[in-house]
Amino acid sequence: VTDLPAFRLEPTAAPVAANERTERLADPGFGRVFTDHMATIRYSQALGWHDARISARAPLTLDPSTAVLHYAQEIFEGLKAYRLADGSTALFRPQANARRFQNSARRMAMAELPEALFLESIRLLVKTDRDWIPDGPDGALYLRPFMIASEVFLGVKPSAEYLYMVIASSVGAYWKGGARPVSIWVSQDYSRAAPGGTGDAKCGGNYAASLAAQSEAIRQGCDQVVFLDAAERRWVEELGGMNIFFVFDDGILSTPPLTGTILPGITRDSIMTIARDAGLTVREEPYAIDQWRADAASGRLSEAFACGTAAVVTPIGSVKANDGGFAIGGGGTGQTTQRMLDTLTAIQRGRAPDPHGWLQPV
Ligand code: COI
Repeated sequence: VTDLPAFRLEPTAAPVAANERTERLADPGFGRVFTDHMATIRYSQALGWHDARISARAPLTLDPSTAVLHYAQEIFEGLKAYRLADGSTALFRPQANARRFQNSARRMAMAELPEALFLESIRLLVKTDRDWIPDGPDGALYLRPFMIASEVFLGVKPSAEYLYMVIASSVGAYWKGGARPVSIWVSQDYSRAAPGGTGDAKCGGNYAASLAAQSEAIRQGCDQVVFLDAAERRWVEELGGMNIFFVFDDGILSTPPLTGTILPGITRDSIMTIARDAGLTVREEPYAIDQWRADAASGRLSEAFACGTAAVVTPIGSVKANDGGFAIGGGGTGQTTQRMLDTLTAIQRGRAPDPHGWLQPV
């Protein structure tokens, strides 16, 4: 099947009233305010991709035997649409999300959604619900494309049917209390991903597996968990849902390499590019937890930050582990961290030139 289906547009008969929407957008936080519509596309082996539509956001009805509910054959993406300084709307690097979605599908033995359908589903949903982009410096429409195994069958095998959907959430800052330096708990008992596993696929299971460690972090009084590699429990990999960067006193940036156990973040990739554009040296290299502690103590490490679509660029102020904690730099927001945040958000919001063509008008 090579023909791509056209989308049926079925606007809701009961949109949220403008004054009610304004109220919900006043202080949206992250992931609790949703728009009026959603995009859906179905896949079956017989029909290929079909039944593409933009329709009223509504609950799903699923047979209790639907495969995803049992074996977690599910993948997702995260990207944002911004209202630019000139009033227009744009997406940030959606093609990169489309490609990663295909890579995740392959790893989870799912049907690969053609890039054109991924992009059109998002463009149409944003166009339909653009009034849901909150004002304010952190305001954006967070798009959540995802796909589930929808075949009704309990055998353990790749599903013959899939349901792809996109929902949209009006968001402000990811962290409660706005952007601020966060504290990190080092998970020494739990691993996130093992060699040959699914660590570089964006599948729900990776996030489910991170939650016990994230709960431990909260119990330890920290904001977020950081995982070490599963084989040696030594190399710093990533946080529960964000990549990590280190900044050294000689100005060099470093981030763990993509060895198959780390999610290949689009924000991660954008920051490496922005830093190199600014004349900084960027290295993708393994960094050991003991070295991190020693470098923080000696001052060789001056900053660390987390990054992701949801978290953007978030300074890491302190680190805590079973065998003690340490502060990074002054515990505040370092100069390079701030520069990466400012440069990235200026491009995303159309306040600075976009030399790599990352913004895609809607
Ligand atoms: C994102 O940054 O988009 C993510 O997928 C992280 C998630 C924890 C919200």
